[in-house]
Amino acid sequence: MSGRRIAVFGAGYVGLVTGACFAELGHQVVLRDVLPEKIAALERGEIPIYEPGLDELVERNRERLRFTTDVAEAVEGAELVYVAVGTPPTYSGDADLSAVWTVVDELPDDLDRRIVLVMKSTVPVGTGDKVRAALDARGLKNVGYVSNPEFLAEGTALHDFMAPDRVVVGGFDPADADAVAELYSKLDAPIVRTDVSSAEMIKMASNAFLSTRISFINEIANVCELVGADVTAVAEGMGLDHRLGKHFLKAGIGFGGSCFPKDISALKQLAGNSGYHFQLLSSVIEVNELQKRRVIGKLQKHLGRLRGTRIALLGLAFKPGTDDMREAPSLVLASRLLAEGAQVRTWDPVASAVDLLPTATQCDSIEEAIDGANAAVIVTEWSELADLANPDVRERMANPLIIDGRNMLDPAKVRAAGFAYEGIGRPSHETGLGAATTG
Ligand code: UDX
Repeated sequence: MSGRRIAVFGAGYVGLVTGACFAELGHQVVLRDVLPEKIAALERGEIPIYEPGLDELVERNRERLRFTTDVAEAVEGAELVYVAVGTPPTYSGDADLSAVWTVVDELPDDLDRRIVLVMKSTVPVGTGDKVRAALDARGLKNVGYVSNPEFLAEGTALHDFMAPDRVVVGGFDPADADAVAELYSKLDAPIVRTDVSSAEMIKMASNAFLSTRISFINEIANVCELVGADVTAVAEGMGLDHRLGKHFLKAGIGFGGSCFPKDISALKQLAGNSGYHFQLLSSVIEVNELQKRRVIGKLQKHLGRLRGTRIALLGLAFKPGTDDMREAPSLVLASRLLAEGAQVRTWDPVASAVDLLPTATQCDSIEEAIDGANAAVIVTEWSELADLANPDVRERMANPLIIDGRNMLDPAKVRAAGFAYEGIGRPSHETGLGAATTG
């Protein structure tokens, strides 16, 4: 198959990864964004986001990738027009689709050939029907519409695109859906062909279910703490059941990022707008909010009042492998600590919270952050923190207490190294049993 000509609207995270990966698959891609400075930077070879491997991918495919702010230039010659613009939450929890509608409105009236508009952005179920109706109302019968949602996790997005668990394609017209499915023909991935609304729901339901698993294991962790069980062993034992699987059962200080919080609130809101109260999702959201605050209680247990204490927050990004601070649990935790009167010193290898947390001190190294600290809290499981429980750190801290918000350290080793240790859902004293073993 020869490459197809694709326009991608929106050079944000999803648009950049999608455009670069399609170019890698041999397609000709034009990335269009409204921000001239972003397009200028991309033309200079500067990638505005942190995603491992993306700069090399863009560089390697320069010949098949163009960047523009001009709609006519992007659409000219394109067979498929991908929509990859942001759909942030509004105050009501609905998704803000204004950028999506701008793309639809910008499509030229005088198309002399068929194009397929493909929705990559995460949109509420029913959006495809509304866009189809708007296109029809403008007489744009030669513009097809297909839903092709993304399942890209930050930090592994290139792998998620090139080796996906599945590609979901939902179209009104089978020939349009065929054209989209063909774009992925070089990949060894199952293609799920369905109607537009079901494709939209697959995306929303997948993120809602993954979030539900996290809030579920976080509640199990909280009960484990009360009854003396270890949630890491529990999750391992549960995950071996093939009906459950091991993924997304890591207890911690809650989920964040640009997708889960926004998408579950959009699904809850969509259900509500349609007359259904999605009770389970309300609980998932509430559990996650409370989970971000649980570290405060653990610190108080060891330190008493937090006023005047010095707390090191290690990791700021909502997960490792990204500099993304959107909905990061670190922000809620730091704000609570500052409100309690603690001094907060932060460290992260790539993310910055200088603007978001102006009264916290952002440090360049782990050593600087933990210097004189009454406690060190692992907020993001960066690999740099694997060796945190070492003699140098113990010497530097005013009080050797580690709160492991991601259960990344071995409690027995940390305690043997002379630290007090608290994880999430792990016994706060040595049980002599350790993690689950199989065999
Ligand atoms: C997610 C989805 O995985 C992806 O398919 C979707 O399209 C976009 O949203 P992303 O937000 O990049 O991707 O991160 P993900 O790896 O899914 O983690 C989300 C959050 O859940 C992080 O804060 C992470 O720390 C947390 N998490 C994840 C847990 O607390 N426990 C787990 O077991 C897994």
